[in-house]
Amino acid sequence: NDLDPCVFVLFGATGDLTRRKLTPALYALHREGLLPKDFVVLAYARRDKDDLVFRADLKANMAEFAPSIPLDKWDSFEQRCFYVRGEFDSPEGFAALRTKLESLDTETNTHHNWLFYMAIPPEQYEGVVGHLGAAGLSRRGMTEQGWARVIVEKPFGYDLETSRHLNAALLEHFTEDQVYRIDHYLGKETVQNILFFRFANEIFEPLWNHKYVDHVQITVAEKIGVEGRGNFFDATGMTRDVLQNHALQIVSLVAMEPPVRLDANAIRDEKVKAIRGIRPIPREDVHKLTVRGQYDSYRHEEGVPPGSDTETFVAMKFHMDNWRWAGTPFYVRCAKAMPKRTTEVAVQFRAIPQVLFAKMKRDEVQPNVLVLRIQPDEGIFLQMGAKQPGPDMTLHPVNLGFLYRDEFKDMPIADAYERLILDTIRGDASLFARGDEVEAAWKLLTPVLEAWKERPHDVQPYFTGTWGPEKASTLLEPGQTWREP
Ligand code: BG6
Repeated sequence: NDLDPCVFVLFGATGDLTRRKLTPALYALHREGLLPKDFVVLAYARRDKDDLVFRADLKANMAEFAPSIPLDKWDSFEQRCFYVRGEFDSPEGFAALRTKLESLDTETNTHHNWLFYMAIPPEQYEGVVGHLGAAGLSRRGMTEQGWARVIVEKPFGYDLETSRHLNAALLEHFTEDQVYRIDHYLGKETVQNILFFRFANEIFEPLWNHKYVDHVQITVAEKIGVEGRGNFFDATGMTRDVLQNHALQIVSLVAMEPPVRLDANAIRDEKVKAIRGIRPIPREDVHKLTVRGQYDSYRHEEGVPPGSDTETFVAMKFHMDNWRWAGTPFYVRCAKAMPKRTTEVAVQFRAIPQVLFAKMKRDEVQPNVLVLRIQPDEGIFLQMGAKQPGPDMTLHPVNLGFLYRDEFKDMPIADAYERLILDTIRGDASLFARGDEVEAAWKLLTPVLEAWKERPHDVQPYFTGTWGPEKASTLLEPGQTWREP
């Protein structure tokens, strides 16, 4: 392949993300022959280790988190992995990193191309980025060859102010086009397919607006609870953890106008416009347009204080103030401890204008619903009405659709991280959030989060394994119901 050679500098070698996601993704890319020929992983971390111990750790991660990937090419993979010891707040450490990078560049022919991956807690980003800048590792002078890119993980800020601060800190040392903000939902095949579905097919786009669409429901449901992440989750909540990023990314892809071309900035220009088109929620309407819930056993989870008001369920109604969607609400709900794990976009079309079939009332003829199933059982379905065979004129709901597992049998869906890592090497930021996108999302949600603080007890309890608090149905308009996917 013709990918640029490079060094993948990993901050956070022993963290959860590295163990669960990055190790399997990097190895799978190696195994499939998708990495550049000259590609090196260099971990920078505090603990006293050497290359051999680091390689053994990586192998242990595979056994624990990706046992199904055969280790047939492990030996050649681990030859690419190196370790350098250093503190995150020490200029000497970063000077040593620079020396190591330069020697790797010579030994392995990586051409001064460096990817800095921040698999560390967000409060450490600023310090590390500052040291990279001070050590001359971030922005290159015109005469030097090679590129530097920085990859940051969510959470990207805690509210509008902190996200602005973080953007400013990054942009002090890197330019926007060097920054890759990961939202792993964008790496999912089915999320990427939203663009294909909309813009590679002529028949849906004419219907994709307020004239034909009654409303859109976006659900991100998890069956599990907080599973040992109580400490982190309780300080975060479902809105910050999932709605602000994964769910709003989906909203923007569904609502956006066609981009003028398929490049990173053209796509993101439209996405940010879509988010800005969501009507701000005035403080006095927050309790009418949003519902929070908490599953019954949440307060007994490890790391969760007994009186916690953190939401494990959130639903919001968004009005779109733009030409395409005015009058078509978007409902978004994100939750844990649901009956099943499912993420989907359901586009519900308007009801038929008149019923021709005897004995049926208008509301008995179910409107068409188009479901883009993001996960699991990935696929797309269009619910329609058909005549049930027999002497009577009886309507029966049927599904037109396709499933990835039938259609793309020998093409397993790769983990989102594989695609995203590859794109950072390619220098394609289309599937990464731009700074203004992240800020637009926080701008919408920060006043809501502020208003909630004044009414902490509005959080509604719900039973584990149900679709959340009853109150969520008060968001809907007459004739609308929440789907049970
Ligand atoms: C993460 C959240 O970003 O996304 C988790 O921090 C959540 O709380 C996860 O469980 C969901 O991702 P996926 O890919 O399993 O749907």
